[in-house]
Amino acid sequence: MDDTKRAQPRSVAVILVAAGRGERFGAERPKQFVELLGQPLFLHSFKTLARSRQVGFLVLVVTPGWERLAQEAVDAAGLAGRVAALVPGGATRQDSVWRGLQALPETELVLVHDAARPCLPEDLIDRAVQAARRAGAAVAALPVADTLMRQGDGGEIPRAGAVVERRGMWAVQTPQVFDAVLLRQAHDEARKALFEASDDGTLVLRLHRDVELVPGDRENLKVTTAADLEIARLILQRREQRGEDGSS
Ligand code: CTP
Ligand code: MG
Repeated sequence: MDDTKRAQPRSVAVILVAAGRGERFGAERPKQFVELLGQPLFLHSFKTLARSRQVGFLVLVVTPGWERLAQEAVDAAGLAGRVAALVPGGATRQDSVWRGLQALPETELVLVHDAARPCLPEDLIDRAVQAARRAGAAVAALPVADTLMRQGDGGEIPRAGAVVERRGMWAVQTPQVFDAVLLRQAHDEARKALFEASDDGTLVLRLHRDVELVPGDRENLKVTTAADLEIARLILQRREQRGEDGSS
C-alpha cells in the first residue's frame, strides 16, 4: 500500500442519505429531521463528515419536500459551503443512493452513510476509507452478540423455528466505502435486475467482489425508535462534555 495515496486528502465523496419517512419512529416528521440536542438529527453525522480531512464532495439526499429545511439547517450551522449538492431522494434507500450517485462528479472513493446514525465516530470514517483503499469495498459491521432464532411457520404468536449459528455473523452498519466505479456498476446492475437491498455492500457482494468487514462501533447506532433517540442523545451529550464532539 502506497502511503502517499492513503494520505491523499479529500479524495472521498460522500452520499448522506436522509430521504426516508421514518415510519417505525412514527413522529410527525421524518426521523432525520427530529430535534437532537438543538439540531435536526441528520446534521450530526453531516457535521462529522464535513469535518473529515478525507471528504471532498458531499451530497445530501433528503425526503422530497424537505430540501429547504435541510438547506436552512446546514446554512445555520455555517456549513453551506460543504454541501456540493442537495437532491431529493427516491422511494427506497437504494433509489436514494442512486440519485446521490447521479449528482457525484468523478471521484476515487464514495462513502455512503445513513443520516439515521447520528453518532458516527470520526475514527470509523478513517478506518473504513483505509479498508476500501485496500479491498475496493468496505462496510462497518459488528459481530452479532445475541442468539439468533429464525421464526417458524404459522401461528399468530411468533414461535422459534430454528437457531441460526451466531458465529461468523455480522450486523452491518454504515459508513460503507467503495471504489466509485465499482459502486456505480453495482447499482446499475441491481437496477437492471430489479434487485433491491437495504444496503450498498449487498449490491457489491452480488457482483462477487470483495467486501471488507470493518469493526464498527456500538455507539454508531441507527435511530429507529424513540428509545434509540434517547440513547443517541446520551452518547452525544457525553462526547460534548468531554470535548470529543469536534466543536472545540
Ligand atoms: N433512506 C433514504 N431514502 C429512502 C429510505 C431510507 O434516504 N427512501 C435513508 C433514511 O433516511 C436513513 C437510512 O436510509 O437515513 C436508513 O433507513 P431507515 O433507518 O430504514 O429509515 P426510514 O426508511 O426513514 O425508516 P422506516 O424504515 O422506519 O420508515
Ligand atoms: Mg426504511
